[in-house]
Amino acid sequence: MNSQYLVDLDQHIREWLHTLDETIPQLIAQMHTSTKKDRFDLVTNVDQTIQEQFETFLAQHYPEHQLFAEEKSNDNVDARHGHTWMMDPIDGTMNLVKQQEDYCVILAYFVDGEPMLSYIYDYPHRHLYHAMKGQGAFKDGKTLKSPEVLPLQDAILSFGAQFVDNETLRDLFEASFSHRIIGSCGLDSIRVITGQFGAHFNTNPKPWDIAAQFLFAQELGLKMTSLTGDILDFTKAGPFIISNPGCHEAVLEVLQRNGGYEKR
Ligand code: IPD
Ligand code: CA
Ligand code: CA
Repeated sequence: MNSQYLVDLDQHIREWLHTLDETIPQLIAQMHTSTKKDRFDLVTNVDQTIQEQFETFLAQHYPEHQLFAEEKSNDNVDARHGHTWMMDPIDGTMNLVKQQEDYCVILAYFVDGEPMLSYIYDYPHRHLYHAMKGQGAFKDGKTLKSPEVLPLQDAILSFGAQFVDNETLRDLFEASFSHRIIGSCGLDSIRVITGQFGAHFNTNPKPWDIAAQFLFAQELGLKMTSLTGDILDFTKAGPFIISNPGCHEAVLEVLQRNGGYEKR
């Protein structure tokens, strides 16, 4: 891939993301919420409109690019081939609805299955994290350093405690420094990317929840695997961890010791 193409595309995507600074407050002013699978699975006009606007942007400027996103059917998308955008228009919808804070927009661009560009836009705090293949990772345009190596005993771990059985939960608390959860897979992952958390794991994320993290992990020397330490398929996702290299193996060892988590 021509590197100028990537640089121009990155610029264009960042400009598009900043159009959301005007759109999101307007959408929130008339926010309406509905449920999907169950009463905890929420979607709002904010999620839907952001995704529609990105779909329109792609159709106008990059008609050969395809979109794989949460609020649409992806049955006809062959994500492993050609130009593919993975999108979670709002990650942390429950936080948007209940707290109006701690949610983000996730975008990741793959070419023939290889991650090339990634974006996690923390709109409530106006911080844009992005990564470009071979060029590193950035917060608001400033280079992010690889986090210092963090052993598990010094690490804050982030995960949904309701999906971990009592014995494993106790082992995780004992082995680590402490536990925190933001409730947005993208933003919990950002804390690992910036070195604030040691690891974040999710027992059942979808492809759009973890798509952007591949390139951040690659560029910063973090570990990103399944919960059994295997390579993740970006088109399928499933149980995942993004981790500081200093505690990845130790977290997986605790998780496997008593087999204690649910895949949901
Ligand atoms: C959810 C959030 C949450 C995670 C769930 C995701 P959504 O995404 O990232 O932190 O625990 O697995 O589904 O539904 O707000 O896009
Ligand atoms: Ca999500
Ligand atoms: Ca979402």
